[in-house]
Amino acid sequence: MTTTFPDGFLWGTATAAHQVEGGNWNNDWWAWEHAPGTHCSEVSGDACDHLTRYPDDLDLLRDLGFGAYRFSLEWSRIEPEDGEFSRAALDHYARVIAACRDRDLLPVVTFHHFTTPRWAAASGAGIAGDGAGWADPLTAERFARFCERAVARLGDEIGMACTINEPNIVTLMGWLMGMFPPGRENDLDGYTRATETMIAAHRRAVEILRAGPGDFPVGLTLSMGDWAAEPGSEDRVPQYRAHHEDVYLEAARGDDFVGVQAYSRTRVGPNGVLGPEPGVEVLPMGYEYWPTAAAAAARHAAEVAGVPVFVTENGIGTDDDEQRVRYVRESLAALAQAIADGVDVRGWFHWSLLDNFEWAFGYRMRFGLVAVDRATQVRTVKPSAAAIARIVHANALEP
Ligand code: BGC
Repeated sequence: MTTTFPDGFLWGTATAAHQVEGGNWNNDWWAWEHAPGTHCSEVSGDACDHLTRYPDDLDLLRDLGFGAYRFSLEWSRIEPEDGEFSRAALDHYARVIAACRDRDLLPVVTFHHFTTPRWAAASGAGIAGDGAGWADPLTAERFARFCERAVARLGDEIGMACTINEPNIVTLMGWLMGMFPPGRENDLDGYTRATETMIAAHRRAVEILRAGPGDFPVGLTLSMGDWAAEPGSEDRVPQYRAHHEDVYLEAARGDDFVGVQAYSRTRVGPNGVLGPEPGVEVLPMGYEYWPTAAAAAARHAAEVAGVPVFVTENGIGTDDDEQRVRYVRESLAALAQAIADGVDVRGWFHWSLLDNFEWAFGYRMRFGLVAVDRATQVRTVKPSAAAIARIVHANALEP
């Protein structure tokens, strides 16, 4: 049976500045990669040199038949020091947006994807320790000012805007797990402040982006997934979801959409989060092969936020390209079922266009539809890209 997606369903791929551009030395992640004692396996370096190669990369995307490209603005390029804006950097992103438009790709612009300029990350000393960054409430205002300047230059041509990418991962990994800058572990106070600042920043950004030039939908994107409880621990799932998801989904009420990003499932037992269930396939990322995650997350997001959903990231880090096709097909089948059940899902973005810098894991995780030779930067389109392109072209999952 062929499963058809709604007319106008938006098909895209996604990247993030630090993971593909290269040379983003002026942000907190670059500093973190180079600091001794972090969990980073390698540095980002030249990444995919997408900063200069974006026209060729967008050609590949157009040739595959996708309709949208989601990418992020690198705040540290646009505002390299507090209050000092780079017209050249803004012009660069205007060219990227124009290159999308020239290729009939809707430019979906993310204003913050994990990286913060060094000066902003170092702010707030004395409020919550040195380098409070997002734990400093004033960072919401710093981000708002950046959004104001960026939208003034870029707004006319933006197709859709994501304010902050996965604020819940920035706070979890940065203040509880020590995996992202500023590398705090079990700092509940910092985590709470950072969560509040992220939400305030999102709300300010929505106001500013709506008031600026252009007319495009605005929302945030959230790291979500499927959840499962061990027998007897069922009441713990809503507790986890409340901090990690619902607080943001509630803040997204009244937005134009919510971006759902899901890869796997989290299991909860009496003593907290559990690892993969024995017998379930485990991916190189260390989590379960769980292709119905995006559909499960979309259902929950629609219910709590009450706004249209876009799956703004979904994919699999694997060296097995056939497994990628299987994962995507199973994910889309579950998503189509959610749509048939009345969940308002309007688009799906594959993570990612290119094999890229997977944060603390470095380059050994391969999420791309296009392989990148690390020595030469030569791109090779993978067979999975052609398989997924057929789905995009048909706007349907054929048997
Ligand atoms: C992030 C991406 C990341 C992807 C795969 C999401 O959490 O937004 O930057 O590469 O997941 O792990």
